[in-house]
Amino acid sequence: MYTTGYVKLLRKQERIDSLKGLLPAGLLRMLQFRSYRRRYPGAYVSGDSDVGARARIGQNCVVWRSYIGDSVSLGDGTAVGHDSRIGGEAEVTIGKYCAIAANCFIFATHHNHRARTIYSLRLMKEARTRMLPPDCYSIPVSIGHDVWLGRNVQVLAGAEIPTGCVAGAGAVVTQRKFEPYTILGGVPAKPIGQRFSDEVIADLLDMKWWDKSPEEVFSEEMIDFLLSEPE
Ligand SMILES: CC(C)(COP(=O)(O)OP(=O)(O)OC[C@H]1O[C@@H](n2cnc3c(N)ncnc32)[C@H](O)[C@@H]1OP(=O)(O)O)[C@@H](O)C(=O)NCCC(=O)NCCS
Repeated sequence: MYTTGYVKLLRKQERIDSLKGLLPAGLLRMLQFRSYRRRYPGAYVSGDSDVGARARIGQNCVVWRSYIGDSVSLGDGTAVGHDSRIGGEAEVTIGKYCAIAANCFIFATHHNHRARTIYSLRLMKEARTRMLPPDCYSIPVSIGHDVWLGRNVQVLAGAEIPTGCVAGAGAVVTQRKFEPYTILGGVPAKPIGQRFSDEVIADLLDMKWWDKSPEEVFSEEMIDFLLSEPE
């Protein structure tokens, strides 16, 4: 019987996961939380999250029970809702003060459907890693600042979501090009609106409030300004 290396690797991993399951969940969560606190002293990363050792998580970020891979960079203040999965082999760069709702999927890697098979033969055979199929291809994903991804949004390899955009619940964002402060919706995501007039957008892009110090961003004056609706 030919058994692939991947099946063997997963079986071995299953034994480790089962043994971990014998420990009290609270204890594991506490230990994991402590290690995230050391790694990201200015952020909150819940102990039931799964965060790659090389992931970059900025000051005042909030991550609830999500997977954040090694190639991911979260800018200051960005929040990630429950059960989101962000990763892939290429860089996934997410800017500052973004709101990523629960159940979002942002992944920089595709199966290569241009090859004769989409099946990850090499991964299955060699089992170098559990997560990242070497037979796939990857394109970086880039998300600007102050971007809101609604619930269940999927962002595919190569997608670029400029600053200020909103992707409505359930949108699938592909490699189409969008302007800043566009509201996107549907599958594939298309512009369904513009948040503000061109003038207000130009002012916000010029102001770059997201690059100010956290003290300034969280000052009462700035909060009042940013939470008000332009005329
Ligand atoms: C995209 C969104 C922000 C738009 O809100 P809005 O500006 O108030 O828009 P409206 O409800 O007035 O809808 C405007 C148009 O967009 C469409 N639309 C709204 N949400 C949409 C979505 N998620 N996908 C596709 N189209 C959508 C509406 O049907 C409407 O189209 P029509 O003019 O042809 O009838 C909002 O609908 C949304 O999806 N929010 C995310 C909610 C969410 O995930 N919350 C939990 C996480 S915090």
